[in-house]
Amino acid sequence: MNFDVKNLPTPTYVVDESLLKKNLELLKTVSDRTGCKILLAQKAFSMFYEYPLIGEYLQGTTASSLYEARLGREELKGEVHIFSPAYREDEIEEIISICDHMVFNSISQWNKYKETVKASKKTIGCGLRINPEYSEIETDLYNPCIPGSRFGITLAQLEKVNAADLEGIEGLHFHTMCEQNSDVLERTVQIVDEEFGSFISKMKWINFGGGHHITRPDYDIETLIRSILFIKEKYGVEVYLEPGEAVVLNTGFLVSKVLDTLENGMDIAILDTSAACHMPDVLEMPYRPEIIGAGKPGEFAFTYRLGGPTCLAGDVIGDYSFREPLKPGDTLIFCDMAHYSMVKNNTFNGIGLPCIAAYSTEKGIQIIKTFGYEDFKTRLS
Ligand SMILES: Cc1ncc(COP(=O)(O)O)c(C=O)c1O
Repeated sequence: MNFDVKNLPTPTYVVDESLLKKNLELLKTVSDRTGCKILLAQKAFSMFYEYPLIGEYLQGTTASSLYEARLGREELKGEVHIFSPAYREDEIEEIISICDHMVFNSISQWNKYKETVKASKKTIGCGLRINPEYSEIETDLYNPCIPGSRFGITLAQLEKVNAADLEGIEGLHFHTMCEQNSDVLERTVQIVDEEFGSFISKMKWINFGGGHHITRPDYDIETLIRSILFIKEKYGVEVYLEPGEAVVLNTGFLVSKVLDTLENGMDIAILDTSAACHMPDVLEMPYRPEIIGAGKPGEFAFTYRLGGPTCLAGDVIGDYSFREPLKPGDTLIFCDMAHYSMVKNNTFNGIGLPCIAAYSTEKGIQIIKTFGYEDFKTRLS
């Protein structure tokens, strides 16, 4: 870690800009070498304080809703794209006014809104999400291609659509990956090429979605580049990637404190930080985040189960071992906490939201935002 957390309030998410820049530089080499465009998927990371920096390297943002689209338009220069499984009638005009690309999930959605798109003075590139029915994701919760999935149009469905109904569609979008290497992309692209090739050839662009773990140390960039160039050159289309996690992978920390320790057949520590409120993916994925200086249970002399301050019995972050016994006031630092954390946090049990801080070598640590009782109250009535 590049900074000292001693004087920080807890809990606090800290994003290290030098680590973020490293990720962004790597992503930029992909767009520089292939001519593809890379967008930040804001669903993973919406800390807009960092958007000006991100905008120096990436070509824009993608959104899952009107609010994310607005945030992308307001805070990061570049293109704004949107995909939603179904758009609301009362938001469609504003979405068109904000976005450069809009991806529809079904022909019925496209048919419903195409006249509004055509009538609008503002031009917007419209695309369809396809479901290649091929994904190597093993967890159903994250697999958009499971049987019965609500995402995208299958080949069989697309083949039944009249050409006239596709008039005005200029792009295709697929999102079938999660935290995966480029060998998975290569196999997916092969299937998309073989099955949807006759449709791609009529398009201006194709969007390869997210789930590309580009900034992880063992990621094979050359295979990614080959896959992008293959589609670009074969079909003469523009290629977009919209990673979320990869943009901020291993750039964020969650600094927390021990509130109490107790014993019930094993040692337990209660933190001021909750899995349920502040790192919900720990329970949803589920996974065990790393803590600086801690090991697996039994690896060091003192093993604890770490839990949050809520009423939820399962608000458990995991079992960890430490070199010294834990005591109230000790600081614990969770790693890789920038993605799918701030965007998913909540105030269940009236637990406060963590502060948001940024670290840079020039400015040191800066607390960008703190939250209080009003943030809890204003979401309720
Ligand atoms: C359509 C779409 N694009 C992009 C992403 C970003 O994925 P990741 O953060 O895994 O790169 C997601 C994630 O669910 C998605 O559904």
